[in-house]
Amino acid sequence: MEKIFELKNLKKYYPILGGIFRRQVNSVKALDGIDLDIYRGECLGLVGESGCGKTTTGKAIIRLHDSTSGDINYYPKASEKPVNIVNMGRVEMKRRDIRRKLQMVFQDPTTSMNPRMIVKNIIAEPILENEKMSSRKIQEKIKLLLRVVGLNDDHLLRYPHEFSGGQRQRLAVARAIASNPEFLVLDEPTSALDVSVQAQILNLLKHLQHKLNMTYLFVTHHLYVVKYISTRLAVMYLGKIVELSPTEDLFDSPMHPYTFALLSAISDIDVDKIPTRILLEGDVPSPINPPAGCRFHPRCPFAIEPCAMEDPLLEDIGNDHSVACHRKFDVPALVHDKYGKIYT
Ligand SMILES: Nc1ncnc2c1ncn2[C@@H]1O[C@H](COP(=O)(O)OP(=O)(O)O)[C@@H](O)[C@H]1O
Ligand SMILES: [Mg+2]
Repeated sequence: MEKIFELKNLKKYYPILGGIFRRQVNSVKALDGIDLDIYRGECLGLVGESGCGKTTTGKAIIRLHDSTSGDINYYPKASEKPVNIVNMGRVEMKRRDIRRKLQMVFQDPTTSMNPRMIVKNIIAEPILENEKMSSRKIQEKIKLLLRVVGLNDDHLLRYPHEFSGGQRQRLAVARAIASNPEFLVLDEPTSALDVSVQAQILNLLKHLQHKLNMTYLFVTHHLYVVKYISTRLAVMYLGKIVELSPTEDLFDSPMHPYTFALLSAISDIDVDKIPTRILLEGDVPSPINPPAGCRFHPRCPFAIEPCAMEDPLLEDIGNDHSVACHRKFDVPALVHDKYGKIYT
């Protein structure tokens, strides 16, 4: 498979300033060393509880903000050498025609769209920024984009607040694909929508991905949402990836206790496959001072001594499945033996 991105030890620390001189006193370790390959044409799901660093990852990859350290190697084409865009400036990104190829759709389109602009201009903006076209051609392109996402010409002169949540998300998708991108970060694109509308938007996204040959990074806190759209899943906990595997494999045999817990939270999952449940207690700890050793160990029912001391590396266990856990191979067995009362 052909790579589109290769993240190496990517970190993003948000500084915390304090004192009268506003010096940096600490930092929020939102991303704390991520290694991840993204393949061209795939839909990679990125899941984890709120505050794990999913949005930060998406924004870092498409350079909506600067990373603290690490590499973001981008492969413009299969035959070409990758370029490290981690420190590339806006002008250079534009000159190399990378800027327009990487786009993002946010959870709440109301905050990412100018409420005083009509639909026509909202969609025209990214087109004008990237292409020289006659105004007639632009009009045609806008109408086509609206049709592609399931809206129509009647919507051209309306304002974002005149639309329903689902329609607004369609609009956000139209704007994101207006510059003909090849990579889209979809940040919880359906989380604010009703369940029936969620399915429609997911179908639209799936259809567009194939039609326009795009690569997706689909960010969500709910594993079930990405089951039908993503080919691989990366599970994140407190700034790190703890499990990475083909989607089916992850649902059939989760290896990391945290993944197990996320799956347990899905009520309609096949009970034969997940015979026991882990109920997660408490919240994700603060990324300002993450726990020593494995970051999940204070909440993990399987924790053993080494878990409090060493941070496990993400290890390949075959079949494209990687796990970062000291006990990765005997988790399901343990469930029955020792910890009966933790499960329902
Ligand atoms: N601009 C910021 N300044 C400081 N901390 C931030 C900022 N943005 C996010 N964070 C913190 O970084 C961590 C990861 O956030 P985020 O990537 O938004 O998580 P997720 O998308 O998984 O919910 C959280 O603890 C969040 O509070
Ligand atoms: Mg988020």
